Amino acid sequence: MADTLYDRLGGEDAIGAVVDEFYDRVIADEQVAHYFEDVDMQRQRAHQAQFISSVAGGPVEYTGGEMESVHDGMGIDHDDFNAIATHLDDALAEFDVDDNNREAVLKAIDSYRNAIVVAAD
Ligand code: HEM
Repeated sequence: MADTLYDRLGGEDAIGAVVDEFYDRVIADEQVAHYFEDVDMQRQRAHQAQFISSVAGGPVEYTGGEMESVHDGMGIDHDDFNAIATHLDDALAEFDVDDNNREAVLKAIDSYRNAIVVAAD
């Protein structure tokens, strides 16, 4: 059977390490850090690792909330989304994930953009 993006990323431990690096970068970035001030980051890291794993085709159950309801009311705009996506891309690069696999992750995550970003009015 062909391997999945989850396998190509190195599975559970590798994705967990990327997610830790990702949130280290997010909370060091004043553009977006304030969103996470009152968030239980241990739970957040665990849910994000599950989410990315399942989106990448891994045998992992995501136990958090739906993207639209979780981010509802935060007022996240495209700039915020792009900042977060860039931190994920940089975290993947930090762990030497190659261009093809980085692009595949970012594309999968971008499919949730419209659920996360507040609609312009
Ligand atoms: C780039 C795409 C994004 C993905 C895949 C994503 C994914 C997630 C996931 C899986 C959770 C956990 C939900 C739960 O525990 O039930 C979450 C929560 C959260 N996200 Fe995102 N997110 C994204 C973008 C953003 C952006 C751009 C921001 C703000 C700048 C943001 C802020 C938050 C906050 C503050 C929480 C915590 C909610 C809470 O526990 O009260 N997210 N996100």
